Amino acid sequence: PIKDRVSDLMSRMTLEDKVYQMCQYVGLEHMKAAESDLSEEELDINDARGFYPGVHSDSVGRLAQAGKIGSFLHVVTPEEANYLQSLALESPLKIPLLIGIDAIHGNGLVNGSTIYPSPISQAATFDDTLIEEGSRQTALEMRANGMHWSFTPNIDVLRDPRWGRTGETYGEDPYLVGNMGIATIKGLQSDDFTGTEHVIACAKHLIAGSSSINGLNASPTDVSKRTLFEIFLPPYRRAVQEANVYSIMAAHNEVAGMPGHMDKFMMTDLMRDRWHFDGFYVSDWNDVSRIALWHHVAKDFKQSIEFSVNAGMDMNMHGPVFDKLLIELVNEGKVDEARVNYACSKILEAKFRLGLFENPYVDLEKVKSVNFSEAHQKTALEQAQKAIVLLKNEKSMLPLSENGNNKTIFITGPNANNQTTLGDWVSPQPEENIVTMVEGITKIGESNGYKIDYFNSGDRSKEITDENITIAAQKASNADICVLVLGENSFRHDWARKTTGENIDRATLKLSGNQIKLSEKILETGKPVIVLYVSGSPIAEPWLEQRASAVLNTWESGAFAGQATAEILFGQVNPSGKLPLTVPRSVGQLQMVYNHKPTAYVHKYNTEKKVPLHPFGYGLSYTSFEFSKPELTKTTFSDINDTITVNVQVTNTGKVEGDEVVQLYIRDNISSYTRPVKELKAYKRVTLKPGETKTVALNINAESLAMYDHDYNFVIEPGDFTIMTGNSSSDKDLKTASLSVPQKIKLEI
Ligand code: IFM
Repeated sequence: PIKDRVSDLMSRMTLEDKVYQMCQYVGLEHMKAAESDLSEEELDINDARGFYPGVHSDSVGRLAQAGKIGSFLHVVTPEEANYLQSLALESPLKIPLLIGIDAIHGNGLVNGSTIYPSPISQAATFDDTLIEEGSRQTALEMRANGMHWSFTPNIDVLRDPRWGRTGETYGEDPYLVGNMGIATIKGLQSDDFTGTEHVIACAKHLIAGSSSINGLNASPTDVSKRTLFEIFLPPYRRAVQEANVYSIMAAHNEVAGMPGHMDKFMMTDLMRDRWHFDGFYVSDWNDVSRIALWHHVAKDFKQSIEFSVNAGMDMNMHGPVFDKLLIELVNEGKVDEARVNYACSKILEAKFRLGLFENPYVDLEKVKSVNFSEAHQKTALEQAQKAIVLLKNEKSMLPLSENGNNKTIFITGPNANNQTTLGDWVSPQPEENIVTMVEGITKIGESNGYKIDYFNSGDRSKEITDENITIAAQKASNADICVLVLGENSFRHDWARKTTGENIDRATLKLSGNQIKLSEKILETGKPVIVLYVSGSPIAEPWLEQRASAVLNTWESGAFAGQATAEILFGQVNPSGKLPLTVPRSVGQLQMVYNHKPTAYVHKYNTEKKVPLHPFGYGLSYTSFEFSKPELTKTTFSDINDTITVNVQVTNTGKVEGDEVVQLYIRDNISSYTRPVKELKAYKRVTLKPGETKTVALNINAESLAMYDHDYNFVIEPGDFTIMTGNSSSDKDLKTASLSVPQKIKLEI
């Protein structure tokens, strides 16, 4: 058994050897690339990128060779993965390395990988099985390339879309976020990632960085314990209890004065002791040292390590000195050696389960047949087709007729013909693997008899010049239909032109640069305008949406964004994505969410409506659906093991086949603490032919109805619940039924 192999190996390890397993470094190629744009002088600065005096790629190689490194991150080629393993296997104990990478939606930092739609787009599919399949495929690509651990899923529940990492989240709803996180973990890890086809997942970031003050990454969060338990923590509990996630990353931010990297209550008392997390914690970047440097609650790095490891931290991302100081702390009795033993045993257990002792190297030939394989492309395309949300379709302007009759479609906008559709955590990919918006629309448009005219208005929103706007308007006036491809840019390697992404937060939810000016001029031509948003976060432009004939949020829908979008525009695919977040009308409406408390909108703004631009769960189709009232198999919930099925009849009342996402919300009518006006508790995607009716069964169990009581027990309080079903979170789209709970029920979780 693996536990015996771990004990056997550890019996031959010194304290030092065990501490080395807790040390992670950045890959050598990544280091070299970053070093190359630093002067010799700058190289000696411990800067945000984490360079330390005297530690450069060559010396890190020597550390690996001496067995002083347990793990690497950001190794982006199989050749480097093999090279690093060969160094580690020269060390006295010959312990292979655990190689981690941010494979957030596909193994995107590796050239030639399949790029799936970004997490927010995945959430818009409301299709857990499809997301699990994409993650299973990502695990295969990772293993083929020598990587064993993905720093995903990001199960931060989004509360402030100014946060640049919005596109990396699964949106604002704890249940949907939990489901998507579980699907991702199951796809990556399978049950326990034993063997050579799976990888370790990493639930991140503990906790609540998605609700930071001012929407700025890593700035403090100040939420109540109740909000933590009700909103932010459920996905983590479920990731542990339902999917056995094997690693968790701590968050940059503090919550109520406690930096995530030394939060013993979170890491140990709650996650490990109460909820039985059985894997290991990894820090985020240099955040252990930042306990002193940024948070000022420790006097130096050594004390930061003491606080962090004692709170439950098991691995330091990334850099030197951690090992030396931790060894000193153990020898001084400030950190119990049992903590080091625990951390080391969990890391080694992972290496054994992954089969790294038997198979440390990857076959460089095999990589080619696994990366971007046909089956993976198919899943990426299907995810994109199901993710895209039709926000507006005035006078059924879409789909465009199959007979183009030589009409001209004019396409312009900053995201029209480049790789911004890939989103964050993706390196530039081979052009032949990517279908841009222009390529997708041209291919299908021309085969349907349209002429396509594309003009590059400026390759990114920051580059749209007045001169280009004039040319674009001229071309628009000669066309029959205009397609504006607008939005934001989180494409990782486009640093200078990025408008959102990690560490690039938004002070406004409006379109950046000159995009509105460009839109105005195109709209002035009077031609019908289709707006395509390419963006991981919501765009709050009510004016533009009012004037455009059709609007689609295509998110960052990956390698096949252009193909999926074109298929929707020309009616080959019926749109079916639903918003996993509320789209506010303006930044002033933040933090607007559908699952708000009852008093949130008692009063009104002086200059803004109090309804959002689009509600959570919303998305149009080319067909129409009718819903029956929900029918419950029982209207009383009396036993902890009860499952009540809610049946809803859905009929396709339109002329084309389509998918609908049937959503079930609950409201606890009267409770001891205030509860949200609605909470999503189940959903199902269903395909219906024209005229067809299906009965969709959605389940409610004890967990759906439970809340935290005064003492943070998870209980169902007696009383009545309203059950709501329909196709968005908006009251007008929901039909209701009633459920009662005769006595209090306590859940043991
Ligand atoms: O995984 C990421 C994390 O989400 C943000 N900081 C860097 C880590 C490693 O790349």
